[in-house]
Amino acid sequence: MISQNTINEILNTAQVEDVIQDYVNLKRRGVNMIGLCPFHDEKTPSFTVSPAKNIYKCFGCGKGGNPVNFIMEHESLSYPEALRHLAAKYGIEIEETQKTHEQKQEQQLAESLYLINKFAAEHFHHNLVETDEGKSIGLSYFKERGFRMDTVKEFNLGYAINSYDHFTKLAVEKQYNIELLRKLGLVSRSDYDFYRGRVIFPIHNLSGKVIGFGGRILTENKKAPKYVNSPESEIYNKRKTLYGIYQAKTEIRKQDNCIMVEGYTDVISLHQSDVRNAVASSGTSLTKEQIRLVKRYTDNITVMYDGDGAGIKAALRGMDLILEQDMNVKLVLLPDKEDPDSYVKRVGTAAFKDYVEKESKDFILFKTQLVIEEAGNDPIKKATLLRDIVESISKISDTLKRSVYIQHCSKLLDIEERILVAETNNAIKGEIKKKRLEKDRDALREQRSKARAQSQAKIANAKPSSSASDDDNPYQYMERGEDDGYPRSEDVYEPEDPKQEIQEYKRDATIDHQERDLTRIIVTMGHRWYDDQETITVAEYIYQNIADMLDYFSSDLHKSMILLAYNNLDQIENWNTLFTNHQDEEIRSEAITFMASPYTYANWSDKGVELQTQKEPSENFEKDSYQAILRFKIKKVKQLILETERELKKEDISPDDFVINMRLLQKLQEQRNFMANELNTVIL
Ligand code: UTP
Ligand code: MN
Repeated sequence: MISQNTINEILNTAQVEDVIQDYVNLKRRGVNMIGLCPFHDEKTPSFTVSPAKNIYKCFGCGKGGNPVNFIMEHESLSYPEALRHLAAKYGIEIEETQKTHEQKQEQQLAESLYLINKFAAEHFHHNLVETDEGKSIGLSYFKERGFRMDTVKEFNLGYAINSYDHFTKLAVEKQYNIELLRKLGLVSRSDYDFYRGRVIFPIHNLSGKVIGFGGRILTENKKAPKYVNSPESEIYNKRKTLYGIYQAKTEIRKQDNCIMVEGYTDVISLHQSDVRNAVASSGTSLTKEQIRLVKRYTDNITVMYDGDGAGIKAALRGMDLILEQDMNVKLVLLPDKEDPDSYVKRVGTAAFKDYVEKESKDFILFKTQLVIEEAGNDPIKKATLLRDIVESISKISDTLKRSVYIQHCSKLLDIEERILVAETNNAIKGEIKKKRLEKDRDALREQRSKARAQSQAKIANAKPSSSASDDDNPYQYMERGEDDGYPRSEDVYEPEDPKQEIQEYKRDATIDHQERDLTRIIVTMGHRWYDDQETITVAEYIYQNIADMLDYFSSDLHKSMILLAYNNLDQIENWNTLFTNHQDEEIRSEAITFMASPYTYANWSDKGVELQTQKEPSENFEKDSYQAILRFKIKKVKQLILETERELKKEDISPDDFVINMRLLQKLQEQRNFMANELNTVIL
């Protein structure tokens, strides 16, 4: 591992304009520099580089980050790889952290395993292209399938000699450890060759190392499996692997789309036909990890499966998972009896690309169409299938996207939009509840018991008699932890339907705004002194004022950013980079948006202007933070007022509860009036 010292040195040394100028022509524009964005096609420059903030941001495609992010994105490298790249550029010596004994052993084991696989892959490839048996059986098979020599080389294809110990003998002779050979599945437990008389497809990880093999049988043998694959090992985790990702990653990023197919041969065939953004799930159903792997390069997936019933079923399976990761999913069904390999060979590259373009269907709309066809006029069938669609829609976390789907599906299915919205929201609520419960059950338990103690203390002060049970006390909503089961504002789509509770809709639409504003102030200027005596920073001031309300934050992202600030209050020196260089992608990108936004409070000394007495108007962050806090609190109090009013309107409310809620309402209203008044005074 690269030591933190080295990482800091790299981050402090790498100048964003310097790094980017290796790839992009930049021109000065005021304090910034601009150029044509390397990440999307554009004719007028919207790619902006800020040397002062050491970040870049494209206002066209939204990509942004620090120098390390640029290298990661542009060169398709991982974080440590990008750090090493920059270290080399600046001649910084990399200091590796002291590893524990265990870590060292793990790494040594992994390295030995890679080494053996490399040896095996080279051996199989050698068999294929150099030996008589390999050439006459393996290579001729590949040639018959239309694989060119350059393709065979690029995918490092191979052949295993049809013998019980050809490979094992050689490996042992070369002093490779027999235990490790067994572990990798190259040698069977009784010391026979595992792959015999099969063509070999090596499986590579992101950096091109061989982590496993698939071996295809060449004879029609109903008893033997068509493919045999390496077992999982310290270096091969099937859930995290996609066949072809190493060869396809750059093209996936370039085309901003990934084609997902089923088989090794589909990937290779497509690649050879100049469709280089394809990867395979290798026969198993898609996993979350595989989708996240793709998401490093694009948000768009085109799933391509056979057009028969089994193909459709397989295609529908992994879809909700993809939606959950907020990817855009399209589906292409191939004509009956074709797979991508056979189809591209039959029609050729141009016609294939054309077909994909014309036949890609949006997944949810496809599913809806299917329902209409399948259910016909059977209302019960329709209802069941409808639930299925709603389930899929509810996986999309982007509210806007979700609303578009709801509108579409409502038209297609001839079902009122209102009903679909309600159903979707129900599904989301259920999902949220489930997830939260699963997530930190222990943490929740603790939180709950704390909350209960607090609320009991409050009840003791507030109510005349203590007969109300814990479950229906009016403070319950205030004290409930993360598992309140209430959808968060960003989770639930509320249509602009006048019949809906308007107030409720507004409430949800604005909460996030206040939170975000507080977070923005903390990130961009949390390190400034709030007071002239320099006793408290802006971040600390804001935190102190909202600490007790953090639990009501509707956005986990903003909450964690504020906690990050609070845990690093003393890091005044490199405050902004605390966020803009953070490991978490979401935190980083939100921080960069804050830093790059026109709201950002310009630092006058950066511009060479030293102000002694007068502050730039936008630097008035005392006023800004105070207002932001008030606005945030007022929203939350208004929300609680609504809850309480609703409680009071319940027909079956007990007399005790009525009294408690009335008191609570009164208190909340007082608070609201005080804050509104305060806000007015500040604004004036
Ligand atoms: P296919 O049967 O579609 O194979 O299985 P294919 O890749 O198209 O191969 P060809 O064209 O018949 O030569 C799809 C994928 O499922 C996995 C493999 O990863 C294969 O590429 N699979 C299939 C196995 O792992 N084992 C099997 O026995 C069959
Ligand atoms: Mn095939």
